[in-house]
Amino acid sequence: MTILDDTELHGDASYAASRARSDTIHKLIDDPHGRGREKLRVLTGDRPTGPLHIGHLFATLQSRVAIQDKGIDTFILVADYQVITDRDSVGDVRAATYGQLADYLASGIDPARSTIFAHSAVPEIGQLMLSFLSLVTDAELRRNPTVKDELAATDGRPLSGLLLTYPVHQAADILSVHGSVVPVGRDQLPHVEQTRAIARRFNARYAGGEEYFRTPDALLTDLPVVPGLDGRKMSTSRGNGISLGMTADETAARIRKARTDSERRITFDPDGRPEVASMLRIAGLFTGERPEQVADRIGDGGAAALKAALTTAVNDGLAVHRARRAEFAADPAYLESVLREGNARAREVAARTLDDVQDRLGLRY
Ligand code: TRP
Repeated sequence: MTILDDTELHGDASYAASRARSDTIHKLIDDPHGRGREKLRVLTGDRPTGPLHIGHLFATLQSRVAIQDKGIDTFILVADYQVITDRDSVGDVRAATYGQLADYLASGIDPARSTIFAHSAVPEIGQLMLSFLSLVTDAELRRNPTVKDELAATDGRPLSGLLLTYPVHQAADILSVHGSVVPVGRDQLPHVEQTRAIARRFNARYAGGEEYFRTPDALLTDLPVVPGLDGRKMSTSRGNGISLGMTADETAARIRKARTDSERRITFDPDGRPEVASMLRIAGLFTGERPEQVADRIGDGGAAALKAALTTAVNDGLAVHRARRAEFAADPAYLESVLREGNARAREVAARTLDDVQDRLGLRY
């Protein structure tokens, strides 16, 4: 096997193997006496492309808080340089970053225990990427299914060098702080596989076989993807989502405007009635009910009763988060200090990694 053999990437067998490793890590995190637990380090992140929505709350924020609260060392990245992978400008990245930060803190992420930092504040990540690029082929990058999907979603834009290589950049994110556990959805799995390959190839080619980089594992969540109000994936750009920072009135208005159907009896029928099914699912996430139970409760009330029940479920469920979020958002100096301290901590770790890497490459004068 040459160093650039990538047959281990992207297959079904690789999904099953990732799943099994993820299950093992879940158990280790949950076992206060688990061996090697203290050596785990979590690295995960979000692109600051716009307001975080309720999908983020259920799919990522709550599990990050749970991991942090179990005492696992956690790094959370505001992936600002990744915003321009598939668009022409970063947009209002400051507002998105500080909004994201307010949501992190409101959800219970504690900056004293979790290091929150931004790409742009850790230039060492970009420099690490240079040596990592020598360890991948253009063919494997072009085959990456997530890169392909993201390219397809850009309305005919040409493939930029950054979009093609962002899995390598993401490997640098993870390895710069020696992350060993990467909580992600299934769509991000190819990047974790790529990171594993880079870690192994680095060790083999540049570190004389020493295990300088650990091969990180994905931590897959079983949580359902929270659908948008129209039944499609929830996304800020589609206007089908409910963001965490909306007011109760904005939430009510968004739900009022959402499409449903005119049948009075509310039933859970994801294929036949996708919009109604999504609303039942979202309401159930907040009330702890199954979607069928929500439907039974509403009975013959029609769309109006469904929307009223959904609005109450969401607004009640988010009231505490929103109150905390508003307090943080009203204190920009505090938010800035959280990010400044997180950046400094992450940069210190990444600078040490870059130093080690350059030593192993022989780039030392
Ligand atoms: N690509 C991730 C997303 O779009 C964000 C991200 C950037 C990330 N770097 C990361 C996730 C490192 C996990 C690890 O959601």
